[in-house]
Amino acid sequence: MRSQNNSVRSKRPQFTEDPDSLSAQLRKRLVGQPEAIETIIPFVQMHQAGLAPEGRPIGVAMLLGPTGTGKTRTVEALAEALHGSSKNMLKVDCGEFQMEHEVAKLIGAPPGYLGHRETQPMLTQAKLNSATSDNCDVSLVLFDEIEKAAPSMTRLLLGILDKATLRLGDNSTVNFENTLIFLTSNLGAAAINRINKPDFGFEAMVPREPLEDGSKVQSVGMAAVKRKFSPEFVNRIDSVITYKPLDRAACESILEHIFANFARMIQTRLGLRAFKLQCTPAGRNLLLDVGVSVEFGARELKRTVQRNFIQPVAALVAQNKVPPGSTVILDAKGGEFTILLRH
Ligand SMILES: Nc1ncnc2c1ncn2[C@@H]1O[C@H](COP(=O)(O)OP(=O)(O)O)[C@@H](O)[C@H]1O
Ligand SMILES: [Mg+2]
Repeated sequence: MRSQNNSVRSKRPQFTEDPDSLSAQLRKRLVGQPEAIETIIPFVQMHQAGLAPEGRPIGVAMLLGPTGTGKTRTVEALAEALHGSSKNMLKVDCGEFQMEHEVAKLIGAPPGYLGHRETQPMLTQAKLNSATSDNCDVSLVLFDEIEKAAPSMTRLLLGILDKATLRLGDNSTVNFENTLIFLTSNLGAAAINRINKPDFGFEAMVPREPLEDGSKVQSVGMAAVKRKFSPEFVNRIDSVITYKPLDRAACESILEHIFANFARMIQTRLGLRAFKLQCTPAGRNLLLDVGVSVEFGARELKRTVQRNFIQPVAALVAQNKVPPGSTVILDAKGGEFTILLRH
């Protein structure tokens, strides 16, 4: 009897994941950061189920970690999955609000003040509402690279995070209850990098040992946040997500996405004149060596592909040198890229 029971119990139910699920859609677009996806989805679900708290944003997440590991990409990916376009969000580049007077641009000047009529506030109800779609009424609001903003930005954020309201210069209020708010920062990134990879150089992109367990990285990130922001501010953050430096496999997978987008562009834009793309292992390796670094993560990868593959191919196309149906191959020899054509 007992063994029978056991055998029944050990049979796990087979879940086949719906490829359209939010999780699957995000994993397609964001590589190597499963914790971010697992943390964000429950907030969306809480809202969809009508169980999000009232008088607060749906959720406030702080995305921490080194440059070029996918923090900004996460919010773009969510915008694509929820609203069909990575641009369908309200993004505040905090680097543009380093001076106190620049922060006023977010809320507009009070009536009667110089420039009152000219200053269209950046954070209006209309703009929030237009960052939704027929499929989903959640507005994604991204305060990108928050550590660069003037201190008054954090004061302004306190009201948004706590009460989901923002008072504008003209005294009207904006309601942030239907928003998911993301704050990104590379605070603590250097220390996080040191924990994960003591070495420098590309070799360091490939962890020799398993990464340090997440909790230490998380606490280093949290300590940096607590040094920079007041306790009231930190208390209003629902989740702090620490992004890992990307390993070689993750970078390869990002490269595949970039190639796939390039191939799709050729199909849709060139129609009957379309051709096929290939990249040799040597070509891939050189793209990764040039495009990925500890300092910038995968941030330069797209540009590296553009400069060394897309632009040379575009030059060939412009000279009518790529016959329809042929294959354009990116190869590398002696540290140089070469383009081959196969008819
Ligand atoms: N985890 C990732 N998944 C997919 N693409 C990524 C990832 N990390 C970086 N990239 C690539 O690098 C670019 C820069 O990433 P981004 O999210 O802007 O980095 P940051 O963490 O500095 O905000 C992206 O547009 C994308 O092409
Ligand atoms: Mg970013």
